[in-house]
Amino acid sequence: MSGFVAPHCGSITAADEGREVELYGWVGRRRDHGGLIFIDLRDRWGAVQIVFNPTNAPQAHAVASDLRSEYVVRAKGVVGRRPAGSENPRMATGEVEVTASELEVISSAKTPPFQIDDDTDADEALRLKYRYLDLRRPRMQQMLEMRHRVVKAMHRYMDAHEFVEVETPMLLRGTPEGSRDFLVPSRLHPGSFFALPQSPQQLKQLLMVAGLGRYYQIARCLRDEDLRADRVVEITQLDVEMSFCTEEDVISLIEGLWVQVWKDVMGVDISTPLPRLDMQESLLRFGTDKPDLRYELEIADVSEQLRATGATVLRSALEQGGVVRCLAVPGGSNLSRRELDELALIAKGAGAKGLTWMPGPLDKFLTEGEVAAIRTAVRAQAGDLVLLVADRRRKAETVMGLLRREIARRRKLIREGEWKFVWIYPMYLFEEDDQGNLTYGHHPFTSPWPEDMHLLQDRPYQVRARAYDCVLNGVEIAGGSIRIHERALQERVFEILGLSREKIHAQFGHLLDAFEYGVPPHGGIASGIDRLMMAMSRTDNIRDVVAFPKTQSHQDLMLGAPSPVDQAQLDELHIAIKPVT
Ligand code: AMO
Repeated sequence: MSGFVAPHCGSITAADEGREVELYGWVGRRRDHGGLIFIDLRDRWGAVQIVFNPTNAPQAHAVASDLRSEYVVRAKGVVGRRPAGSENPRMATGEVEVTASELEVISSAKTPPFQIDDDTDADEALRLKYRYLDLRRPRMQQMLEMRHRVVKAMHRYMDAHEFVEVETPMLLRGTPEGSRDFLVPSRLHPGSFFALPQSPQQLKQLLMVAGLGRYYQIARCLRDEDLRADRVVEITQLDVEMSFCTEEDVISLIEGLWVQVWKDVMGVDISTPLPRLDMQESLLRFGTDKPDLRYELEIADVSEQLRATGATVLRSALEQGGVVRCLAVPGGSNLSRRELDELALIAKGAGAKGLTWMPGPLDKFLTEGEVAAIRTAVRAQAGDLVLLVADRRRKAETVMGLLRREIARRRKLIREGEWKFVWIYPMYLFEEDDQGNLTYGHHPFTSPWPEDMHLLQDRPYQVRARAYDCVLNGVEIAGGSIRIHERALQERVFEILGLSREKIHAQFGHLLDAFEYGVPPHGGIASGIDRLMMAMSRTDNIRDVVAFPKTQSHQDLMLGAPSPVDQAQLDELHIAIKPVT
């Protein structure tokens, strides 16, 4: 084979007219036109039409009559313009065709389990089982290439800013990033386990103690978490850490990175500085800390306006310390009862006690003044419907956030062509977990705001964190913080999180010890490349941007993993399997 000198199927143009080419590729569509046979020959670069003429090249024509989809062939021929009127404007090579003189079948193919083109409607499970076929589709090939270009641009940018890439180990002790660890049993130390990295967090901080100053890595992180549409268990991050920096340094470094990546990969100019939103404000106005700003809809708080309302459902929620939040649905007064019931179902699904609307069931309980105050707060126009939720603050925010998204989708309010970046900053040091316990907001190494230090002991939820997330079109594409670099403060934060002295020393002794040998103030960030790719390629399904993804239930359908292992392997690892009860 002529290897690199062979031209690509997809890159032949009218400028090649008259040139003899030898092409390798996969057979796409084949059409038999009473004597002439046409095939589309496809490779990563695209497809080109090849014509077989029974008179000029009888042998090649005979081989072509037996060709089937997905055969791999070598074809030789001369590039010519297509006869006038037979050009195909939907193909990049649509002006030309190759008239074949030779054809050789290199590899035959069974009928694929699904149609290999971008319009395929094959079930995702089938596509994942035959991922190597799914990846033959032009859109998937473009995704792989785009992902490569994004990572390349990142390397270039980080290198230009004097960051050094360091590989950190895959076999670690657990590092808390809010998920479960994947564990690896040690053969040589029976009963002991390594943890796969949820992120290189502690190691990159230790590299700052080591004096590296500026570190980055395209890092693989593994998190045993429940999958959702925007989550994977094997994450790729651009992981960054720097010394002697403030949040402004990290934020402007990453803004510059987005500018470079968008320019290099999409030819788009992103203007900086990017807007910022305080996390509380984001939760209030958009019902989420990952707001999609490609549409205007804003939530309003009307708790104060309704303190003394005659609408008991609203008042009693307020009396129990809750809030009333509302959202205007543009032109929504014509929503059908069915649509309203569907919205109520979404609210209930998110745990809301209920959803009500105006005009609607509460009309007779609300005074004219209250109605006017609500409509003003939420800037409702004539013909708008106002949705109201009365609940605990966090619940009301979540429900309103979901409704905001749903309404934007249903009323087609999302301006699809826009890139809406926003930094959520500052964030908060602690959060409530699902059981109502105190947990960390970003991770336990994040530094509190110096001004809020006095709140640490008694009002921890009010302590702001020197943490920032970058959100693009409603997707969190990066998150980081300035770190704690003092042993005593780090120990105090661990204690507030409920860790015993013994646990702190067993789990984090190395980091605390390191903080006693001259440690620079430092901070950093990590960008989830899978999430970034999702936003850049405008897909809601993270598996569309990963070459070999797992399913929602953590399986690799192609490899058949996870799978049981031989007893001998288990014996070597001193592992006995308990039957599932
Ligand atoms: P964090 O956990 O916020 O921070 O992760 C950083 C970014 O990684 C992406 N990401 C994910 N993408 C897909 N699936 C997941 N399950 C998933 N989890 C995270 C997101 C997120 O913004 N060590 C810290 C960073 C730091 O503080 O420097 C960390 O990993 O885009």
